[in-house]
Amino acid sequence: MSEIAEASHTCVLVTGGCGFIGSHTVVCLLQRGYEVVIVDDLSNANEKVLDRIDQIVGEDAAERLTFVRADVANKQALTAVFDEFDIKAVIHFAGFKAVGESVEKPIEYYSNNIGNTLALVDVMRNHDCKSIIFSSSATVYGDPDELPLTEESPKKPATNPYGWTKWMIEEMLRSLTIADPEWNVVLLRYFNPIGAHPSGLMGEDPKGIPNNLLPYVAQVAVGRRDCVHVFGNDYDTPDGTGVRDYIHVMDLAEGHAAALDWMAGRSGCEVFNLGTGNGTSVLEIIKAFSEACGKDLPYVVEPRRAGDVTANWADCTKARLELGWEAKYGIAEMCRDSWNWQSHNPNGYEE
Ligand code: WQD
Repeated sequence: MSEIAEASHTCVLVTGGCGFIGSHTVVCLLQRGYEVVIVDDLSNANEKVLDRIDQIVGEDAAERLTFVRADVANKQALTAVFDEFDIKAVIHFAGFKAVGESVEKPIEYYSNNIGNTLALVDVMRNHDCKSIIFSSSATVYGDPDELPLTEESPKKPATNPYGWTKWMIEEMLRSLTIADPEWNVVLLRYFNPIGAHPSGLMGEDPKGIPNNLLPYVAQVAVGRRDCVHVFGNDYDTPDGTGVRDYIHVMDLAEGHAAALDWMAGRSGCEVFNLGTGNGTSVLEIIKAFSEACGKDLPYVVEPRRAGDVTANWADCTKARLELGWEAKYGIAEMCRDSWNWQSHNPNGYEE
């Protein structure tokens, strides 16, 4: 059985805690009284986020945060962390996440994402820590037959190695709970996380040209890029552009904290969708962001992007009923916070 009890004095390991979703989740956990150890190799994150976390949560809470720079695949480093801290649960974000890059570098993606998860659960087992929340994705539903997507909707073949790693890691973790009923696994399937901390101190900071829509739009708004490229306007959707369920990163972070509370005393494997239940098109996003930043953002229509689905959005009933969690923010607030972050930090965490 899981030993997660009261938040105070409960230590949680957050892999990839310096990344976009990880850093916002760390803030929520510290504000709820958890002790947090981040393991991150900074391969796709900036150490400066740690100062921002401290600023947001304040000195007392910041004292409960420890950062260890290490690759999660490094079992020796992980073992040292588990030896030093009494870790009760793990939230596992660390992984490569660029869809296009995963097609170019399948070996790196499979080896990193799957390899680090295997190393992690092995070290966890050796320390009798068997509670893990995994950062999965709506990508496991592939091209849906029916909307909204519930947790019962079928998993479909992935269209790229990144998607396959999420798909396979879910199955790996599920297998653990079958082999050993003490394992306590929660698979959180995120829809499209956007937005930023309302303080403007933390947000998404992709390296190079952003792959995802929102950071691209934000960089156009701040003048780093000329115009938004809309990938296809001939989809079977109201305005022809792709529809997604965008969710504020703070709502997503709260979803992790709610899942952690829910896991206490349980075992087995449970899946939850984390979305808002609403679909928004690419053109609607451009319009909402234009309103948030106070200028019309230019865009051009390009051919469809390979591997994109027409539309997806979540049914979040299960998370509401079981976790007592529900998304609070709408698209206007997501764009407002994303713009607040981008306009105050035009180059992300770099000066
Ligand atoms: C959203 C919509 C595009 C960029 C992927 C992963 C998912 C998660 C988030 C990763 C689509 C359109 C995009 C652009 C555009 N994981 N678009 N111009 O593809 O739904 O999800 O990223 O970190 O697991 O699969 O998100 O933001 O790339 O695209 O028109 O420059 O915006 O075609 O309709 P996606 P996205």
